[in-house]
Amino acid sequence: MTRADPALSFEALTMEFPGVRALDQVSFGVRGGSIHALMGENGAGKSTLLKILSGAYHPTAGSLRHGGVSKRFTSTAEALRAGVAVIYQELHLVPEMTVAENLFLGRFPRHLGFLDRGTLRKEAELLLRRVGQDISPDTRVGRLSLAQRQMVEIAKALGRGARTMAFDEPTSSLSARETGRLFEIIRELRDQGTAILYVTHRMEEVYDLCDAATVLRDGKHVVTHEVLTGVTRDALVKSMVGRELTNVYHYRPRPHAPGGLEVRGLFGPGLRVPVTFAVARGEIVGFFGLVGAGRTELLRLLCGVVPPVSGEVRIHGTTLVVDSPRAAICAGLVFCPEDRKKEGIIGVRSVAENINLSARREHLRAGAFIDSGWETRNAATQIERLGVRTASADTLIGLLSGGNQQKAILARWLSEPVRVLVLDEPTRGIDVGAKSEIYGLIHDLAAAGTSVVMVSSELPEVLGIADRVYVMREGLVSAELSRPKATPEAVMRAALPAGAAV
Ligand SMILES: Nc1ncnc2c1ncn2[C@@H]1O[C@H](COP(=O)(O)OP(=O)(O)OP(=O)(O)O)[C@@H](O)[C@H]1O
Ligand SMILES: [Mg+2]
Repeated sequence: MTRADPALSFEALTMEFPGVRALDQVSFGVRGGSIHALMGENGAGKSTLLKILSGAYHPTAGSLRHGGVSKRFTSTAEALRAGVAVIYQELHLVPEMTVAENLFLGRFPRHLGFLDRGTLRKEAELLLRRVGQDISPDTRVGRLSLAQRQMVEIAKALGRGARTMAFDEPTSSLSARETGRLFEIIRELRDQGTAILYVTHRMEEVYDLCDAATVLRDGKHVVTHEVLTGVTRDALVKSMVGRELTNVYHYRPRPHAPGGLEVRGLFGPGLRVPVTFAVARGEIVGFFGLVGAGRTELLRLLCGVVPPVSGEVRIHGTTLVVDSPRAAICAGLVFCPEDRKKEGIIGVRSVAENINLSARREHLRAGAFIDSGWETRNAATQIERLGVRTASADTLIGLLSGGNQQKAILARWLSEPVRVLVLDEPTRGIDVGAKSEIYGLIHDLAAAGTSVVMVSSELPEVLGIADRVYVMREGLVSAELSRPKATPEAVMRAALPAGAAV
């Protein structure tokens, strides 16, 4: 192997599932000491490629070369032994075991045949220090935050001497600070010569963190940029989506009418002072705040997930007793939660059934029989509108790529006009092309008179689609800005803790 050879390369890799060719003769290389972005629309084949790398899937054809040698890993354990570690979004630690036990799973240090707890602890501490974590090795993993678990996974990979690492959308549930910490570590790993493959939908991350980028589309290799200097954002988007994408946010001014959603003095867990705000009919209001600002808590109170201590919520002039999500839904307030995977998806049902869940509820409430013709049509329409990539409407939703599952669930909430639509992080994990479609749908609903409340931690998204922005910080609303006043600087100033410099 010469110095110019990539540390890792894929050669005509093909992966077929029944009815789907997830990868089609994909070839590219990843240099040692570089961070290589892997990009593409939902369902393009990114996670599948990572699963082949980790030995979880076996390719239909083609091969991968690691360290100049052709490899075919038959299990993740074998890949780890060869120095290849993949950090998935669903982390693979054992929650009931301690951090130290997880770090050394399958290779506990022994002394005279007995488990050597002292050495286990010490070695675990060393590894945790390498990823800058001061958590005790004796903590049970189930008690750690997601970010901490991710760090433990990385420490585990380091413990096995991983020289090649891959990450699948690692920041999608991390706060800004946690993301910063993760980036530091990934950069350190690169500087030590590790070859890093990094899957993301966030364009800023590509330019911030990555040295090179590969784009997949429909399972095929589109382009590999060995350096990103001179490669524009528009060019990357075009290679992912296959067309120019203009006017992503579809913003257009709409007439507003009073009396949509009125919230007065709403107070409960997670808030510091009672919150008052209003959203007109036909208006889109964005809530922005850093993680921990109280946005999700406010939504939970608003939608009856957590009973409020005090306050009044009125929808179209009628006071709503928010004591359960069902009461909120009956009053015409629909809530699409942040963690759709946990709260939203029924993995053993088909895509169509998942899309029609809320529609079905409406039909039943009206005392009508289930109109299966309508359901089939609705599912087909939504799949088409949101570009859900699925072999058919009857495919189990659990078999779809992560982002396509998100789209299908979102379709459920965007299927019918409601009085108030509350969306928590609606585009997380969703590719750029589909995001644009979703913004268009949100505008259509607003134009039909729906009051939309959208919470997002992506500032450009909030500024791009909202008519008005409320900023939260430390459990209170710190600013209300009309669209012309909502500049990135003004919003960030209100979002940062009092006294912090912008
Ligand atoms: N176990 C499986 N069985 C059947 N089809 C599968 C399986 N795993 C993946 N697929 C299909 O392969 C294609 C590629 O999926 P993959 O998860 O690799 O996409 P992705 O690029 O990671 O997308 P996302 O950005 O949404 O995470 C999709 O059409 C998906 O439905
Ligand atoms: Mg994926």
